[in-house]
Amino acid sequence: TRVTRLHHLAELKAAGEPWPMLTAYDFVSARLFQEAGIPVLLVGDSAANVVYGYDTTVPVTEDEMIPLVRAVTRGAPKALVVADLVFGSYESSPTQAVAAATRMLKEGGAQAVKLEGGVRMAPQIRAIVDAGIPVMAHVGFTPQSVNGLGGFRVQGRGDAAEQLRADARAVQEVGAFSVVMEMVPADLAREVTAELEIPTVGIGAGNGCDAQVLVWQDMAGHSTGRTAKFVKRYAELADTLREAAREYGTEVRSRAFPGAEHSF
Ligand code: KIV
Ligand code: NA
Repeated sequence: TRVTRLHHLAELKAAGEPWPMLTAYDFVSARLFQEAGIPVLLVGDSAANVVYGYDTTVPVTEDEMIPLVRAVTRGAPKALVVADLVFGSYESSPTQAVAAATRMLKEGGAQAVKLEGGVRMAPQIRAIVDAGIPVMAHVGFTPQSVNGLGGFRVQGRGDAAEQLRADARAVQEVGAFSVVMEMVPADLAREVTAELEIPTVGIGAGNGCDAQVLVWQDMAGHSTGRTAKFVKRYAELADTLREAAREYGTEVRSRAFPGAEHSF
């Protein structure tokens, strides 16, 4: 596998070839996803949920994220690793945003950052890009604003479509290299994708986007809670792992493990 660069993603859009992106939070999963040919890995602030067990992405901190970014960049040196900026680390000012983004590269080893917001975060995106750091934007449903958005709801329906279009245009205008659209009607996402020059990455946004992203534990059936409508489970790892642990426990209790072949 080659090292994935930003211009490769632009070339894929030009060629009309969709590309896959997954989240990753540790060394082993990052290495497996690189081996599987996933070119872009996101150290999402969904780590709040799937790594740290918080209810939302609001509480997770930079200091909790950075070690995960380091592990992923070590596991997948050829992938383009994008690190999420956490809630509270970039909204106040462009200066604050550049500082947060810089940490993800300097301390985490990421190649790019992602942040939530369109028109409202344009000054931050421009400042980070001007600092030499590639930015992936994230519009539509933005989980860090779950309290302001009134829960987990599809965005861009009806009159809100214009806001979604304006957000997507704004992030392209200020230099984002790509934009995630989360929980947006498929037709709208397809139109925005056709209108934009930068690649769009869909999650719950239909199959008209230039790329797709899922949280890997959702994709692999490794999550414990209920999964959203937009998730497809390609494996049932939670069942496999629980069963393995149960069997191990049974065999230890019955002295079936370790056997002679595991002993010296
Ligand atoms: O944090 C995350 O995992 C994300 C995506 C799934 C887009 O932001
Ligand atoms: Na995120």
